[in-house]
Amino acid sequence: MTDSSLQTSIAILGGTGKEGKGLAYRWAKAGYQVHIGSRSADKAIIAANDVREMLKGENSVDGMSNLEAAREAGIVVITVPYAAHRETLESVKDELKGKILVDVTVPLVPPKVSTVQMPVAGSAAQEAREIVGVDVQVCAAFQNISHEHLLDDADVECDVLVTGTSKEARAEIIKLVEAAGLRGWDAGPIENSVVIEGLTSVLIGINKKYGSTHAGIKITGAQRKA
Ligand SMILES: NC(=O)c1ccc[n+]([C@@H]2O[C@H](COP(=O)([O-])OP(=O)(O)OC[C@H]3O[C@@H](n4cnc5c(N)ncnc54)[C@H](OP(=O)(O)O)[C@@H]3O)[C@@H](O)[C@H]2O)c1
Repeated sequence: MTDSSLQTSIAILGGTGKEGKGLAYRWAKAGYQVHIGSRSADKAIIAANDVREMLKGENSVDGMSNLEAAREAGIVVITVPYAAHRETLESVKDELKGKILVDVTVPLVPPKVSTVQMPVAGSAAQEAREIVGVDVQVCAAFQNISHEHLLDDADVECDVLVTGTSKEARAEIIKLVEAAGLRGWDAGPIENSVVIEGLTSVLIGINKKYGSTHAGIKITGAQRKA
């Protein structure tokens, strides 16, 4: 594998699930090499076949174990339920050094998923940083974007707030947000992820109360430089 293939390849841990598959679809469509990861390589291969079928083309999506996916990619995205967050990160952390980890996890605690319940570390993304260590840049993004949007080709009105441990890493991930057809904003340091993860519970509450399925947020009154 060349260094340039590492840079343009994205691993999605738990990419067999709803949110991960949606991101895989969007990024493969944009021309990225996407490695779907799973606890079961067979399950990942089936998910990758599903995504290729949706794209009806030669797009580059394959399936493998979470560990192999993390090894093969320059950017590693985690999309697992909070209950599986620590275990999944522990299982791949040796493969993450020098890379960017993007945490999509929302620390929901069933059954009260419309109540904000943050972990001791402050947020799932801050917990991820504690687990993977200082040799990994950690960003958090997409927590407020429903998988229904990602799997639909329609324009998405909601914005993506990107927090992270360096402004360079955030800029890198904003490029991925845009490649996925969404508008990304630099939302500051990883400590700010508490607000964005918490917003998901607010949006779930709004969905329940108003009968919607994919409420989102949009930044107004600000322009981004081209
Ligand atoms: N769904 C959304 O619209 C949405 C929107 C924003 C943020 N999120 C966040 O994104 C994350 C993933 O959401 P999702 O809806 O995609 O979840 P999901 O479909 O329930 O699960 C995603 C994947 O996680 C792995 N997984 C599930 N339980 C596990 C366990 N106990 N141990 C290890 N791995 C396990 C599974 O992969 P394998 O079995 O293949 O290993 C599964 O396919 C969550 O933190 C969620 O809060 C979701």
